[in-house]
Amino acid sequence: MRDVAVIGVGLTKFGELWDKSFRQLIAEAGSKAILDAGISGKDIDALYVGSMSSGRFIGQEHIGALVADCSGFSYLHIPSTRVEGACASGGLAVRQGYLSIASGLNDIVVIGGIEKMNDVGGVSATETLATAADQEWEAFFGATFPGLYAMIATRHMHEYGTTKEQLAQVAVKNHANGALNPYAQYQREITLEQALNSTMVAYPLGLMDCSPVTDGSASVVLCAAEKAKEYTDKPVKIIGSGQGSDTLALHSRRDICTLDATVHAAKMAYKQANLTVKDINVAEVHDCFTIAEICAIEDLGFVKKGEGGKAVENKITTLDGEIPVNTSGGLKSKGHPVGATGVAQIVEITQQLRGQADRRQVKDARIGLAHNIGGSGATCVVNILEAM
Ligand code: COA
Repeated sequence: MRDVAVIGVGLTKFGELWDKSFRQLIAEAGSKAILDAGISGKDIDALYVGSMSSGRFIGQEHIGALVADCSGFSYLHIPSTRVEGACASGGLAVRQGYLSIASGLNDIVVIGGIEKMNDVGGVSATETLATAADQEWEAFFGATFPGLYAMIATRHMHEYGTTKEQLAQVAVKNHANGALNPYAQYQREITLEQALNSTMVAYPLGLMDCSPVTDGSASVVLCAAEKAKEYTDKPVKIIGSGQGSDTLALHSRRDICTLDATVHAAKMAYKQANLTVKDINVAEVHDCFTIAEICAIEDLGFVKKGEGGKAVENKITTLDGEIPVNTSGGLKSKGHPVGATGVAQIVEITQQLRGQADRRQVKDARIGLAHNIGGSGATCVVNILEAM
């Protein structure tokens, strides 16, 4: 296996982007990443695009070809492949691109992640997202993602004494970080009271415990590490990449408070990177709901099972904490355009490791981790990056 590095990153603003089309968003993120890497179309061996449900959100499938076309690359006939794994589609696309270079097949690939979710109404967006749950056993009976994660939260509170205040503190932290991110959907701080008193969505999760419905796109350029210095003096190496799967339905799991796909993917990534969790300086984790961040920091091994709530309360995951988590604002505040999220996490970690995260910069960050989940945890991708 060859080493692989990130040599370019690009991001659009996240939010309700009524004035921008799907094509404009992916072309904007992609061209920013290509410019950042200093490459041109003829340097690109392949494109991988993470998109969860463009067919339902904008009525358009055949996204691989569309992205090559609207990026102006159709005349080059570059192989372009869409990758789908629900909300982990972006992370999976990064991993597919990574594997294609590590295997020796490609030298330079461009990864895009995109979702345009606001062109349909709220009910339709919720139904579309719920197609990533088990239709037969969950969604058909009305168990949408806020409902499924509410069950995880209730069980976590019962098992470990996690409180609604601790959930709210995840939201307060991530909004504080998002307030420092010019690309975030919600660039505003919230108070604990606002989080605690927000409209109930599915007990115990209120509006401020939920990630929003978002339009946006992200892109990264990956390159064989041995060639990376030809393009940038700040390459960031992918030193570990892991992936795990689990049952689609939550009720079939051995323990609904542990996402075994995360445990498995993390173990694989740590082993490949030849490091332990203590070596991680900064992390972007999949906080689609506040409870998801608490489960993630436990399942990734940052804290022991059941101690995630306490860890947030003790501020170990804040920007200046022991292990800063979701410096970008996370899905909660930066927004969650599902297919783009996993790619955007790599953008944030790369910026942190390059020392380019402005007011969100974690001091002396050298090793960062990105954790991307599909559905209620049936798919997980963990990538670990290091400044070269
Ligand atoms: N966090 C903070 N504010 C939010 C928000 C969120 N998650 N979602 C909406 N808002 C704000 C809007 O900006 C709007 O503010 P404004 O009135 O100042 O403009 C207001 O709340 C109402 O917005 P609206 O779009 O009508 O909300 P909604 O009730 O239709 O949707 C949720 C709210 C929580 C149901 C929706 O965001 C949601 O479904 N989130 C979960 C998405 C999801 O499941 N993703 C996949 C995870 S696996």
